[in-house]
Amino acid sequence: MNKGIALTGIKPTGVCHIGNYFGAIQPALELTKEYDARYFIADYHALNSIKNSAIIQEYTYEVAATWLACGLDPQKSLVYRQSQVPETFDLSTILLAFTSKGLMNRAHAYKAMVQTNEELGRDIDDGVNMGLFTYPVLMAADILLFDADVVPVGQDQAQHLEMTIDIAQSFNHNYGKELLTIPKPLIRKETQTVIGLDGRKMSKSYNNTIPMFLPSKKLKKLIMKIVTNSQTIEEAKDPDTCNVFTLYKLFAGDDQQSDLRKRYQAGGMGWGDAKQALFELMEEHLGPIRERYNQIMADKPYIDKILDEGSVKAREIASEKMRFLKKEIGM
Ligand code: ADP
Ligand code: TRP
Repeated sequence: MNKGIALTGIKPTGVCHIGNYFGAIQPALELTKEYDARYFIADYHALNSIKNSAIIQEYTYEVAATWLACGLDPQKSLVYRQSQVPETFDLSTILLAFTSKGLMNRAHAYKAMVQTNEELGRDIDDGVNMGLFTYPVLMAADILLFDADVVPVGQDQAQHLEMTIDIAQSFNHNYGKELLTIPKPLIRKETQTVIGLDGRKMSKSYNNTIPMFLPSKKLKKLIMKIVTNSQTIEEAKDPDTCNVFTLYKLFAGDDQQSDLRKRYQAGGMGWGDAKQALFELMEEHLGPIRERYNQIMADKPYIDKILDEGSVKAREIASEKMRFLKKEIGM
């Protein structure tokens, strides 16, 4: 029996943080047990915001090394650069003809920029490039080109997935056939929105991230910056409203969680102690992955080889799909 297909992409716009890890990378790696996986670096998506060639190149290596260090096996799963699969852009152009402008007007990222411009009294399209405006169409092409059944992402991508489904349905409806596979988002409830240092959603754009592979000392320093309230050491504390505990739960097993919960509720534990417990647990989990990551990052030709080979295989699948689709639409 054919396995289902799992697909996701990460933009090379910065080093991966633990929001990316729990929201996308870890669920994606779990899916590789049951699905054929296609996990890629969304470099054309990154181009909307990063126009420096050296930086985008470096972030591409960092994202690829993160996947590999976390356990992605390139013998079993495809890992590739979006920009090395030009069929994506072929499909993207086709999909544009099935996407209403109104749908794009409603996309969160575009709407947020328009709103900021309005608030600042600027022209509403100030700083909006067409790549940003049509971002959801390119993302739909990434997904539909590979007949993805399931797409592991964080909550912030839910709207993009809905738009992908919308576009695919319009296309299928027009030709009266299921030419494009309708994908399902996989958004894990417990990790759909990982919080950052300040308790808001962890995001590069909020400058509140905990990067996955900070050296030990820097990681500790950053954890000490997590925002807490001003309760004294003696006071009993509520774990369920605490940023430190919320992050701790991501890494902890049930026993560890209930132990720390008791220490919160008993009083006599300061924020420094709670942060130390989080730091130690993170070190235990991320330390070994960081070591692999550093080794992989020291061998860029190896990363290039993996991405090049992955891209060749991805193109074989993609070009077959494009041949099929073009014939179906009369081209
Ligand atoms: P960022 O928002 O930091 O720019 P990306 O847009 O590159 O991160 O996100 C890559 C993947 O990680 C996406 O699937 C996204 O939904 C997921 N992700 C990003 N931030 C979080 C978060 N704070 N919690 C859960 N998932 C997240
Ligand atoms: N838009 C996603 C993000 O901002 C990245 C992405 C691009 C993606 N293409 C994709 C995710 C296809 C899943 C599937 O994080």
